[in-house]
Amino acid sequence: MKTLKAEFVTSATEPSQFPPGNLPEIAFAGRSNVGKSSLLNALLGHKNLARVSRTPGRTRLVNFFRVAASDKKGAACMFVDLPGYGYAKVAKAVQEQWGPMIESYLSARSVLRGVVLLTDVRRGEQDEINLVRWVHERGLGLVAVATKIDKLPRGQRAQGIRDLEALLAVPVIGCSAETGEGMDAAWKAIRELLLRPRV
Ligand code: GTP
Ligand code: MG
Repeated sequence: MKTLKAEFVTSATEPSQFPPGNLPEIAFAGRSNVGKSSLLNALLGHKNLARVSRTPGRTRLVNFFRVAASDKKGAACMFVDLPGYGYAKVAKAVQEQWGPMIESYLSARSVLRGVVLLTDVRRGEQDEINLVRWVHERGLGLVAVATKIDKLPRGQRAQGIRDLEALLAVPVIGCSAETGEGMDAAWKAIRELLLRPRV
């Protein structure tokens, strides 16, 4: 996979700390440990740009990454790695900070074009259904990704993706940050989000 020019810009906990919004933005959202930081790295062809961890709750801030255009046709944009929700072992006070932090980002950011919603192919719950609804209600674009498909035996992958599509009622792209599967399809969908007119 080709390496795109990408760089970390800043971390933020509240809108006053967000960088200037002069590039279209794509946010990566999903349950803690679902593989947001890993997918972001895999899409950019970098190993460790966004910090990945076995321990859920690694990403606790809103992290901004500037992605340069790969060619004349490719659009420069910002990728935003959001902290994951729903990890019970994180202190309650910290958890209570996360919801508002994610929501304030998603609500306040005028350059946000769309959300890449990640769901573990083996899990999908009410939280993900709610997020799909929330994103649609705000007129944002959505790309739904099933992560860690390498963990399902090959013969069960298509069904796993169909089950998730039925649950979320949107098309789902199967991805593995480990094997690189699904990266081209995910990029294609993200490019479409970037080209989408703002509503
Ligand atoms: P938080 O920042 O805590 O919200 O987590 P995150 O969603 O950013 O997850 P992260 O990318 O840190 O990955 C969590 C764990 O899942 C790490 O141990 C990764 O190596 C692993 N992982 C992520 N993507 C994949 C994948 O596609 N396949 C497999 N097998 N493991 C993965
Ligand atoms: Mg992370």
